[in-house]
Amino acid sequence: MTTKTKIPFFNGMTTKTKIPFFNGMTDKNTNYNMIKPKIVKKIVVKKEEKKKSDKPVSEKNKRTYNLIKGMHDILPKEEKYWKKIFHTAEGLAEYFQFGRLDTPILEEAGLYVRSLGRGTDVVDKEMYVFEDRDGTKVCMRPEGTAAAARAYIMHGLWNNPQPVKMWYWGPMFRHDRPQAGRYRQFYQLSYETIGSPDPIADAELIIVAYNFFQDLNIPVEVRINSIGTTEDRQRYKTELINYYRSKRSYLCEDCRQRISKNSMRLLDCKAEQCQPIKEEAPQIIDWLSEASKNHLMKVLEYLDELSIPYVLTPTLVRGLDYYTHTVFEFYATGLTTETAQSALGGGGRYDLLVEELGGKPAPAAGLSLGIERIVSTIKAFNEQNKTTWSGPTVDIFFAQLGDRAKSRVLKLLNELRRGGLKVAFNLYKSSLKSQMELANNYKVPYTLILGQKEVQEGSVIIRDMESGVQEIVDQKKIEAVIKKKLHKD
Ligand code: HAM
Repeated sequence: MTTKTKIPFFNGMTTKTKIPFFNGMTDKNTNYNMIKPKIVKKIVVKKEEKKKSDKPVSEKNKRTYNLIKGMHDILPKEEKYWKKIFHTAEGLAEYFQFGRLDTPILEEAGLYVRSLGRGTDVVDKEMYVFEDRDGTKVCMRPEGTAAAARAYIMHGLWNNPQPVKMWYWGPMFRHDRPQAGRYRQFYQLSYETIGSPDPIADAELIIVAYNFFQDLNIPVEVRINSIGTTEDRQRYKTELINYYRSKRSYLCEDCRQRISKNSMRLLDCKAEQCQPIKEEAPQIIDWLSEASKNHLMKVLEYLDELSIPYVLTPTLVRGLDYYTHTVFEFYATGLTTETAQSALGGGGRYDLLVEELGGKPAPAAGLSLGIERIVSTIKAFNEQNKTTWSGPTVDIFFAQLGDRAKSRVLKLLNELRRGGLKVAFNLYKSSLKSQMELANNYKVPYTLILGQKEVQEGSVIIRDMESGVQEIVDQKKIEAVIKKKLHKD
């Protein structure tokens, strides 16, 4: 009973580009396109199955389901945080002229292996990789920068005036060790500027993020460093490896592996025993070329100009391979809880990524912020300062008594909504007392009350919530009267 429909997707997307995964990922000219569309099957529910599902659930079928480890739900009570964060991000994107980009969750795994690099935790341990039904190795995006670079190349965005500034918001997936502030599905908000080598791009991104945190009343510090060019790093790595080899016996197991696998990450180790060794380690700043040093100095000058507090952090290297020059991270300040230990966001320059993915050279910079961590930080500050975040604000409350009143209220609510008034109501409560309690919680200045009598008379009661004074007005005039009272006319 199934029919197969082949859905054409993008023109030119019909050739099969089979990307071998771990082997053969060294071809520099590979272009990464989006994943081929799949054949969509029409599912027809058979009659007998339908019949079965109508039967009452037997005891043995009553099982409940939990979340997959590291995943989490975002419940309606969280909405006020998520909404405010999204609107803040969107407002800043508009103001600083970042255009919205949305890319798919599934990408060719090779895109990420090439971009983030083998030897990084994300590629080696955390990516959700699987074979699609047509044999393509795909992954659930662990971040969005590689996809943004892919989109920039694939859609010829280098033809547009440069740089191209884009922002995106969406879920990312990393099979991380679940712990506070670490999820396997988490949301990121990102801003990317592709097509400019100018240090102003790095500074602008930091300024956008700094404004974002200020708008949300989160005090932050920016930790910043430069990891220079590939050549700078090559010279530095030799020094770093020599130094760490000489300390090998004092290192944690991970660091011993990192010496040959991913030496820059030695500086990122959190293990207690490695801290004194890290403190004495050579610092990359001493290995930077004049041009790289100048780039960093210029970024810092811009930040000074805007009085943005930053901390030069020589051990900051970031965990992804595509970075060059400036790297930075944001941490909350003034919090005494564990929340302050994890970065709220981070980013940097990635001058070689677009070229690495087969595009024309396009120096770039970007940053991503972790939404769950930002929500936890807001909550931690609220707890520490004994403050609360109110939910959405409404203009008035509408209470009803009786069946006929309920259906009339539905009609009036619609009219008031069209008139631009934000009205709170609850059609599932029948007692006036409980509805007035709700109205008080919303802290509205006025409540409309509609009972059977008012339905018959075509009127409504307007109650001033502060004085308790009530007046009766014609239902046709509610909008005008309320708007006048709220000075919205
Ligand atoms: P990232 O440092 O890997 O950078 O992630 C950015 C932020 O995402 C982190 O600072 C953190 O707030 C959040 N985050 C990361 N992993 C998790 C997790 N497992 N659970 C919860 N939150 C998490 C990037 O992803 C780069 N794409 C940033 C960038 C954009 N660089 C250039 N452009």
